[in-house]
Order: sequence, then structure tokens, then C-alpha cells
Amino acid sequence: MQTKRIGILTSGGDCPGLNAVIRAVVKASELREWTVYGIPYGTDGFINIAKDECSPDDLILTDKCYQLPGRIRGLDVLQFFSGSVLGSISKGHPENPEVKANILEGYRMLGLDALIVVGGDGSLDIIYDLAKAGNWNIVAIPKTIDNDVPDTEFSVGFTTAVEIVTQALYDLTFTAASHERIMIVQAMGRDAGHLALRGGIAGGADIILIPELTPCLSLDVIDDCCHHLLKLRESGRHFALVVIAEGVKTQDQRKESYIGDYLLQQIKEYSQILCHEGHQDFCTLKDVDMRVTVLGHLQRSHPPVAWDRLLATAFGIKAVELIENNHYDRLVVWQKGQVESESLSSIITTIKERRQKKQCTSPVNPHDCLVKTARSLGIYLGDPEKSKNPSNLDNL
Ligand code: F6P
Repeated sequence: MQTKRIGILTSGGDCPGLNAVIRAVVKASELREWTVYGIPYGTDGFINIAKDECSPDDLILTDKCYQLPGRIRGLDVLQFFSGSVLGSISKGHPENPEVKANILEGYRMLGLDALIVVGGDGSLDIIYDLAKAGNWNIVAIPKTIDNDVPDTEFSVGFTTAVEIVTQALYDLTFTAASHERIMIVQAMGRDAGHLALRGGIAGGADIILIPELTPCLSLDVIDDCCHHLLKLRESGRHFALVVIAEGVKTQDQRKESYIGDYLLQQIKEYSQILCHEGHQDFCTLKDVDMRVTVLGHLQRSHPPVAWDRLLATAFGIKAVELIENNHYDRLVVWQKGQVESESLSSIITTIKERRQKKQCTSPVNPHDCLVKTARSLGIYLGDPEKSKNPSNLDNL
């Protein structure tokens, strides 16, 4: 058996399941008698090596690293925890030539045969460029609660985040019903609506706003939302659950950190104006209590659900197998019930093209079966055409 020295790093926003990937890689490597170096804080770990701030030996990971000591020694806990035991960074492309040189030097000093990169679209893009410059052999594993890495149906962390959105909606339902309130839940998803869509359907939302179907909160969209909320009340449901993905923009196409609050404001102002103009039903809506919950990083920090542990483990094992076969420049993916791998170079080309055009790297397909499911349930999802109306409330 050929022994290898491999590295693993996690980069970009953390998510549930990163530790399960690390555990799987360490276990599969130990079986092959390989040495695994855990690079701390993404590519920053290479800088520390280059500057002699840490010794390569300190980075060696073994199965024992993650077992509890004492009477419960042998208990292997790593896959249960969220976060990354290696730490992670979100720093963008290293512009400074000295920083870049140190990263490349640190990698060279470790003498790695290959590197496993666990990252989302942004990190993969950055590390791919470094790998090209340093001639690294890399295998990548997709992770992100946004689920927007092209060519894989699932990224590590996504399913746990969906669970959090779903649970949050369930938890809010009872207080919403008791006070007959409209609850707006802001979900993560910088440019993609996968998380809001799935969590929204599973959690019983009445309105789900995602950037793919509602690029911005135009007047038409606000009008539709108001009518939908009024219809719900008429049908006897005196509360409502609205999910909005953070990637949805304002009326004037701006990104807004608190887009849920903006939506509340728009609904309030719009119904006030229409009430003032004599539309009686809008007078009811203007007085309905509304509250916003921003789920934020709670979506990233929950222990990984079973599916994320399975996916992370299967992805970690696949990455080791690819390295065993000297099969590099690959992205491990989940497609049609199987763990496969795709050319990383071609996926990076897609990522770069879409990022340059400021497009989502892997958006919700408007013909996705879950979009159809949501519409068939009567959930309001918007329509890109409705986001085109540029007028604003001041023009009413
Ligand atoms: O890309 C994953 C993600 O969780 C997005 O949904 C979110 O916009 C972003 O990271 C937040 O990142 P941070 O707060 O860590 O910079």
C-alpha cells in the first residue's frame, strides 16, 4: 500500500457536518496508514507553517485526537458536533503577494501529496486558483447551508439548516396563532432560496419569498402578499407564516441585511395607503400585528442531523478514495442517490462565470418539483415578472 501525506482544511462560513467530514477522512486515512495534516483556519494554516509559527507535527490528526479521555475513552464524538475543529476563515482572494507566497510556501513545506478542501462556492474558487499556482493536487467537498454549489444535489450542512428553519416555523406557529399575528422569518441564503423554500414548505409557511422567484420586493409583490394575507384571513386562518430568504432585494434592488423588517414595513405602509384610499379590507391588514424573526447563525450551528452526518461521512470517504487512485481536480458530489465526482475545473469555470455576472452559482430551478409542490399547496411564491415593477410606495 502506498503511504500518503494528505492535508484537510475547512474554508468559508462553517456549517453542520464539517467535523463529520474530518472524522471520516481521518478514519479512512488511518486504515491506509496515511498521515493527515489538519490545516487550521483554512489557508491561513499554511502561512503559520511558512512563518515557523507552528510545527507540521502539531497538525497531524489521528483518530485518537477526537476521542474522549478517562473512563469514556474510545468514545468517538467528532461527528456529533457542529463547527469545525480546524477553524475556518472567510477572507476572499489573497490580494497581497506576500500572503499568497506564504500560503504556497507553507503547502510546499508540508510536502503534501494531496489536499482535501471542504468549502462552498467562494472558497472553492479561491483555493482552486492557489492550487493552480502551487501545482497542488486537490479534491474538494461541497459544504454550505445555502446548497448553491453547482452539480451536487446536496452540500454538507444544508439539511440541518432546513431542519432549523422548519423547527423555527413550527415553534412560531403557536404564538402566531394565539396572537393572530403575521410572523416573518428571515432565512439565510446569500443568493439562493433552497433553504427558505424547503424549510418554508416543511414548516407550513403561507408565503415563501426567494430570490429566484422574487428577485425584489416590488410593489406588485407587496400587493400580492397583502392579498394573499387577506385571503388567508377570509378563509379563517387568522395568523400567517412568511419566510423570506436574505437574498431577496428591496424595491430599488438593494441587498438589505434585515430584509424581513423591510418587508414588514412595506406591507404596513402599503396597507395603510390602501386603507386610506377606501379599501376596507386593507384597514384590517394595517392593524394586524406583525413580528420578524431573523434566524441568522442558528442555522449554521446546530448538531448535524443524521443525513448531514451520512453525507459528510460518504463525501469524506470518497475524497480519500479519489486520492488513493491519484484522481485529482475533482469535486465530490451527490447525484441521484450516489456519491460521485465531477471535474473541479469545469465547475470552477461555471462558478467564476456566474459570480462575475453577480448570479447565483446554483439557483433554485423555477421548474423544481418543490416549487410546484409549494404552488399546489397554495403557498405564495411570487414570480420574477412581478419583481419588474419599478414603482415604489411614494408614487402611490
Ligand atoms: O454562505 C453561507 C452563509 O451562511 C450565507 O447564507 C450567509 O449570508 C453567510 O454565510 C453569512 O456569513 P458570515 O456571517 O459568516 O459572514
